[in-house]
Amino acid sequence: MPVTVHPLSPHIGAEIRGVDISQPLAAEDVAAIRQAWLDHCVLLFRDQSLDANQQRAFVRNFGELGGRKVRVEPQNYKAVEKQEGPDYNADAMLVSNIREGGKPIGVLPDGEMWFHHDMCYSPQPNRASFLYAIEVPSRGGDTMFSSMYEAYARLPQALRERIEGRTVLQAFDEYQDRRIDLRERPLSQVPHCFQPIVVRHPETARRAIYVNRLMSHRIEGLDEAESEALLEELFAYTEAPDIRYTHVWSPGDLLMWDNLCSTHARTDFPADERRLMRRYTIAGAPVTPAWDAQTAAE
Ligand code: SIN
Repeated sequence: MPVTVHPLSPHIGAEIRGVDISQPLAAEDVAAIRQAWLDHCVLLFRDQSLDANQQRAFVRNFGELGGRKVRVEPQNYKAVEKQEGPDYNADAMLVSNIREGGKPIGVLPDGEMWFHHDMCYSPQPNRASFLYAIEVPSRGGDTMFSSMYEAYARLPQALRERIEGRTVLQAFDEYQDRRIDLRERPLSQVPHCFQPIVVRHPETARRAIYVNRLMSHRIEGLDEAESEALLEELFAYTEAPDIRYTHVWSPGDLLMWDNLCSTHARTDFPADERRLMRRYTIAGAPVTPAWDAQTAAE
């Protein structure tokens, strides 16, 4: 059965049908999936039955694995490090609210998470993320994706000119579901770096906005009030409801997304219900600013 592509919303996301990703894939199927991913930024595969090794094998079709993120320990507890078993292996990261012996088994905060680009606070952010649903709550815990191509395309020329050539400070503390307050938390305590506000996608050559409410802090060269005001103006474009796809998870769903042209957020869910997702990433390269000489006229 051929791989088929079914858009999920006007600007972002497509469902891929006709493929069992637990099995080795033919080269033409990998190529079709890769093209759909470039075209739609986020891909959904439903009803998949994947153990950790099968998920990792699927991910490896698209590049080198990204580093395994483990919790650092500013607090008194250490995450339970799941290493082996059908649900885990040494490259898998769990995204979960589950505690074992009072300790988290996964990374990232529980409940709602604001819009963000995975690891944009790293000089070499992961290129892609692959999240597989094992257990989901009865309501909430949805993942919303927003097209950063479309957000850029909608910017008025005057706003484009105000951000052209600028960079933004990206920083994140994985224990917090809100943006950290840099007046209370010295930068030396959290991973951070400056990134271009608009990036050029390495494969499609399209421009995409690269700021988000959770991790973007200060626009270089502006004072705090100006920077906050400009970020809010940009968020009105990056979070516009009509450029989003919201995924309501079922066990067996796998989503793969491109961290350069999409941003994502998670809705809240009941704290007393279990949510267990398994994540792998594909390593990335330093991002390219959009305003290189070759394309300055665009
Ligand atoms: C993530 O931001 O990588 C996790 C998203 C989710 O848990 O829905």
